[in-house]
Amino acid sequence: MASGTDWHDTSQHPTRVKRRAHWTSRMGFILAATGSAIGLGNIWKFPYITGVYGGGAFVLVYLGSVIIVGLPLMIAELIIGRRAQENPVGAFQRLHRDGSPWQIAGWLGVASGFVILSFYSVVAGWALAYIFKALVGFEGTADQIQGQFSELVGSPTWSILWHTIFMTLTVGIVVGGIRNGIERWSKILMPALFIILFGLMFYGLFFTHGGMKAISFLFNPDFSKLSAEGVLSALGHAFFTLSLGMGAMITYGSYMKSDARIVQDAITISFLDTLIALMAGLAIFSLVFSYGLEPGVGPGLIFQTLPVLFAETGQLISVPFFMLLTFAALSSSISLLEVVVSYFVDERGWGRTKACLIMGTLIYLLGLLSAVSALKLVYGDWETGFFDLFDYFSTNYMLPVGGLLICLFIAWVVKDKVRAEEFGSAGRLYKATVLTLKYITPIAVLLVILHGLELIPFVEYGQ
Ligand code: TRP
Repeated sequence: MASGTDWHDTSQHPTRVKRRAHWTSRMGFILAATGSAIGLGNIWKFPYITGVYGGGAFVLVYLGSVIIVGLPLMIAELIIGRRAQENPVGAFQRLHRDGSPWQIAGWLGVASGFVILSFYSVVAGWALAYIFKALVGFEGTADQIQGQFSELVGSPTWSILWHTIFMTLTVGIVVGGIRNGIERWSKILMPALFIILFGLMFYGLFFTHGGMKAISFLFNPDFSKLSAEGVLSALGHAFFTLSLGMGAMITYGSYMKSDARIVQDAITISFLDTLIALMAGLAIFSLVFSYGLEPGVGPGLIFQTLPVLFAETGQLISVPFFMLLTFAALSSSISLLEVVVSYFVDERGWGRTKACLIMGTLIYLLGLLSAVSALKLVYGDWETGFFDLFDYFSTNYMLPVGGLLICLFIAWVVKDKVRAEEFGSAGRLYKATVLTLKYITPIAVLLVILHGLELIPFVEYGQ
């Protein structure tokens, strides 16, 4: 429920918020934004795509993508939000003019939040389910253990049950508002996540035989394994993992006060997100290599391959692992919902509770389509079903197009004075960032979009 300091007075004009909630501290903001960035993308997706695209060289390209695409775009989003003090749709109008065509980027962002959360919650539900499976213990032959995943995904009843629980948790936190919901929970979930991951990485590196191999797989680049497809996937992943392209950082930035240090904070958030992805990679690949398994099995790496290994390591490793995954997913899902909620609160004058309940329910209902159609995943058919459709469409089209518009807006529309002011004490990086946003980031993002459309000639598509 809204606390005294955490309310929006929208009584006068629904599009103009008089008093806006703000993070209690810089640390609170950093934890919440890092929580948004660190999610299934870091712990589920990053390790498996690194496995698929061959390790070290892919990691290097990914690091480059974070610097030339991720960081400048995060700065751009935070500037827009911090300056406008509004949700993504309102923010473009505030910084440009009422009815500005740039608000399309905001609309796209709200729609992306809606779509992404619907299937994100289904995967997060599996993570939640696996905490309990891990508690009971993984037993039987490798086939039987791997089969548990197919059973879960293939059973609409169970998938829907866990999706329901996860969405309820997400709504429950966002209803609490910025300070008492999102910030408070981020302050609990993020340190817990870090401690668990640190423990798992330590175990992987020093208590299994796979540690050295994992380090060499991730940090010893073999460029002969790198494909054009890998480069473009690294670029696309930089978007998703940093929560960019849909105004999540605009929204979180809008709860920053005017003394915020945008550039320094963006660097911290990107650094932490990358650190966690690499730590997760080390923890997971140490285990995979210590049992002589293949790193490139794809999306099933976490839910199918790891449980077979967990049967050997026991609950002490498996239970914290799936808690880690669930915590990471939860601190991201709240940011997805907050983007949608902030629009209805700011622009439509809804109360926070009403916006959370109505939008949470609608997103939940859309998610049912993914929960049921995820059945096809089991057979390795990633091209069909609502789940794949939503995932594919949002990651490949909606986020990059949103990101491109945000980048062009800050680079070419917003006045130099405004940008420079928001840069504050990080003035030395100003020129380089603006030049990157003007010329380099848009081209890189355009490549991601063309890649999504399968329009780049030298990349082989299909599988
Ligand atoms: N960054 C999250 C992850 O890595 C996913 C996510 C949360 C996201 N909010 C987002 C992605 C906003 C894009 C936009 O799992």
